[in-house]
Amino acid sequence: MSVYDLILQRRTIRKFQQKPVPKELLDKLLDAGRLAPVGGNIQPLEFIAVDDPAVCAQVFVHTRWAGYLKDGAPKPEEEPVAYVVIVHNHAISKAAAHQDVGIAAESITLVALDEGVASCMIGAMNAAEIGKVLGVPEDREVILVIALGYASETAVMEEMQGDDDVKYWRDEASVHHVPKRKKESVAFWNRWSGE
Ligand SMILES: Cc1cc2nc3c(=O)[nH]c(=O)nc-3n(C[C@H](O)[C@H](O)[C@H](O)COP(=O)(O)O)c2cc1C
Repeated sequence: MSVYDLILQRRTIRKFQQKPVPKELLDKLLDAGRLAPVGGNIQPLEFIAVDDPAVCAQVFVHTRWAGYLKDGAPKPEEEPVAYVVIVHNHAISKAAAHQDVGIAAESITLVALDEGVASCMIGAMNAAEIGKVLGVPEDREVILVIALGYASETAVMEEMQGDDDVKYWRDEASVHHVPKRKKESVAFWNRWSGE
């Protein structure tokens, strides 16, 4: 699939089949992260692949899901079966690396999706506890968790209506709907031409 088609197709998924993600793919995701563009080529980020079910369970308890939904967290039979955890090495650079993290995370999720594996980036988590679970040294900080697995739900993009409501929602068939701002309100040619 083209990168553009992957970008169009990718939606955050929060319900996963209990089917392992191949180790070869997780290893590719580590490469997708470590080889991503980095400001100044400083490379302060490290990447931990997690696929041991016992470790996955310990990571899961420190994650928070779908703040806009009442029952948005995966049920036990829907939990992620793998993670890539992005760690900032403060010994290399103390400066925030938000852009680097985002680029690495999107690279990881698109490579995963290219092989049929869905994902949810998780910023709402207890970084210190996940760091302890994974044995991350004190001079490093867990920055972002990427939950992974084969999708067990359908999520679709929809054009945001006039109400400006960014909240995703689930319909009666449990399809997850993600409102995106209309193209004409955020994308311009040659000069800003919004309202
Ligand atoms: C930096 C970042 C942090 C996020 N943190 C969480 C999170 O903690 N829990 C969660 O359920 N979703 C999280 N998400 C997923 C967003 O809610 C999701 O990307 C958004 O609703 C848009 O949906 P889409 O990814 O399908 O386009 C995060 C996404 C990003 C980019």
